[in-house]
Amino acid sequence: MTSALSSEQTNALLAALAWQIELGVDECISETPLDRFEEIAKAPAAKQASKASPTPLPKKKAPAPEDDGLAQAVTAAQHLATGVETLDQLRSAMEGFDGCPLKLGARNTVFADGNPAAKVMFIGEAPGRDEDRQGKPFVGRSGQLLDKMLGAIGLDRTSDNPDKAAYITNVLPWRPVENRDPSTDEAVMLWAFLERHIQLAAPDYVVALGKSPAAVLLDTPVAITRMRGRWMAPPRTGGKPLLLTFHPAYLLRQPLEKAKSWKDLLSLRAALDGDQPKIET
Ligand code: URA
Repeated sequence: MTSALSSEQTNALLAALAWQIELGVDECISETPLDRFEEIAKAPAAKQASKASPTPLPKKKAPAPEDDGLAQAVTAAQHLATGVETLDQLRSAMEGFDGCPLKLGARNTVFADGNPAAKVMFIGEAPGRDEDRQGKPFVGRSGQLLDKMLGAIGLDRTSDNPDKAAYITNVLPWRPVENRDPSTDEAVMLWAFLERHIQLAAPDYVVALGKSPAAVLLDTPVAITRMRGRWMAPPRTGGKPLLLTFHPAYLLRQPLEKAKSWKDLLSLRAALDGDQPKIET
């Protein structure tokens, strides 16, 4: 027989759960402890014998179940992304997508902020704790620095004027535990959403903030300290000019690098003012 929990007990359980999530717990485990050493010791001889006489490896490796899961999630994301025609529909499609385990530990799907009509779209890595709580990208310390960077070249994410506005999103819409970088699998899985996001927002210019968005948009690993400041026009932005620059979080850790970042911002300002950026191939 089960007895109903008091609201005090419910709140205590929710607080305990929230704390677990804060600590990075992202899966449930059984209540009963298992002694894995004992399990191995009791394993039937046949299983242990495989150690003595290993069976030859199959010539072609069978796909691991997790690869299969990734492929299915990629297909599901592609299906959803290609089926939407507006940014609101895209947001709903992403909120309804259950293929990414990060969503289980997230409070919000962090879609975008700013003015979607803006001429320039900024793409960061993934929400942090503050963004996860508020459901908006770049609202924590990095976001405050980003706002200052935008302000320095006359941009403002709250502006209604597309010439002065900024539109901001991330490679991942869900917070990775302990704020780690997006994994390759996560970026691959969710690429269809970001691709559609860029197509629907249709900015004139795209700015990759840091190495993760740069790698996703160029579809190759990027050494951002070497590549920053460059303009490219990759297929993944639909040929739209893409500027690579540092992530604001990196600038908070390495304030001396702000001078280089300032150069990049001036180059963006010049492009917005009509100077053709020098696209590298
Ligand atoms: N860092 C990011 O890359 N994105 C955010 O939204 C916040 C911090």
